[in-house]
Amino acid sequence: MTRTQVTIIGAGPAGLLLSQLLRLNGIDSIVLERRTREYVEARIRAGLLEQGTVDLLIEARVGERLERERLVHDGFEMAFDGLVHRIDLKGLAGKSVSIYGQTEIQHDLDDAVVVGGGDVRYEVLDVVLNELTGNRPRVTCTHRGKRLEIECDFIAGCDGYHGVSRQSIPSDVIRNYERVYPFGWLGVLADVPPLSHELVYANHPRGFALCSMRSATRSRYYVQCALDERVEDWSDDRFWDELAARMPPQYAQRLVAGPSIEKSIAPLRSFVAEPMRHGRLLLAGDAAHIVPPTGAKGLNLAAADVRVLYQALIEYYGGGGTTLLDEYSGRALRRVWQAMRFSWWFTSLMHRFGDDPISRKFQVAELDYLTQSAAASQTVAENYAGLDFKPVPTAACAHGGP
Ligand code: FAD
Ligand code: PHB
Repeated sequence: MTRTQVTIIGAGPAGLLLSQLLRLNGIDSIVLERRTREYVEARIRAGLLEQGTVDLLIEARVGERLERERLVHDGFEMAFDGLVHRIDLKGLAGKSVSIYGQTEIQHDLDDAVVVGGGDVRYEVLDVVLNELTGNRPRVTCTHRGKRLEIECDFIAGCDGYHGVSRQSIPSDVIRNYERVYPFGWLGVLADVPPLSHELVYANHPRGFALCSMRSATRSRYYVQCALDERVEDWSDDRFWDELAARMPPQYAQRLVAGPSIEKSIAPLRSFVAEPMRHGRLLLAGDAAHIVPPTGAKGLNLAAADVRVLYQALIEYYGGGGTTLLDEYSGRALRRVWQAMRFSWWFTSLMHRFGDDPISRKFQVAELDYLTQSAAASQTVAENYAGLDFKPVPTAACAHGGP
């Protein structure tokens, strides 16, 4: 039997960041990951970080390359009906966002964990979580052919949407909320200069499109596609033609096409599992919630969960009790639902939903309103750049005191 303080399931960004922050604070953990390090590092996913995420990565001492190489964006653009409206994040919300690929974060975290002597076991199979409601939970698994049993104080379920952690919670104590959208995103990565120096989100009668980037020479582009389409249906030429058709003409003409390095289709879903704690199991990141990527919130939410969770564990191991652990689910879910709402709203505003002509009229009217109203644009800017949470006023305060 092996013993550690916290067993972390999953070595994605949530699992590795938690392990790194715990280690810096003298708390032991073992991370169990089903895939190889190479596989996890190669997955092309998020690219946009809120300042709060950047700050947490710096706190975790993995911010050096990030601060050097990130692209700081003070705004982004929304294109519709031949118009382009810029959301001035800096001016309206006083914040910027950063472009730095999830692959790079994963690489920086992997390096930091190895250099710091962290314990990450890759290619672990058959993970089973036991005795979650007792004081000594145990995890059993097979690591490269050998059976492993770990006894710990807590288990952090950071194993993504398809992981085992959430599924280990009895169905009568967890409630799932879900909406599946009737389309997906086809994403292409290519070594071509980005269309613009900021991100461009387009609502077009043919469907949504997004021009994002990873660096000054690498672009990440997406088009809305049908759920039954396959990557093989999309030649590079078809993709570039479709992207150009959905961008405003002045942008389409300067779009630089090139061979794709990666091409994949992601379904879109909103999903939340409540509560995020069951006994000694604490869920974090995609294991507990999924947002459609339109709002760029998934990785940022995972980091926000980790911030709340590691502070709770520091309090516990510092002898401060379980107050923060008891509050973990409620505090994390408060941010989660705000990001859920914004991602749903932004998805609904920018995508084509069937052929109903009135739906697009509503969208265009709302986009037009955004161009006219600083208040409406400020709401978008605050949510996109990441909300700051003030404590909820107590009933007494809310009513001006007794
Ligand atoms: P994951 O990254 O899913 O990691 C979970 C890990 O657990 C995986 O490595 C998995 O192999 C492992 N695992 C699973 N099951 C087991 C098991 N049984 N045993 C052991 N290990 C297991 N977010 C943003 O914030 N900004 C963006 O711009 C953005 N863009 C996106 C674009 C796309 C196309 C997609 C698909 C996602 C995007 N996201 C974005 C979302 C973001 O990538 C995820 O929210 C983020 O990866 C969540 O991290 P995680 O560590 O919680 O989960
Ligand atoms: C990305 O660069 O992959 C990205 C950026 C912003 C989004 C979604 C994805 O809203």
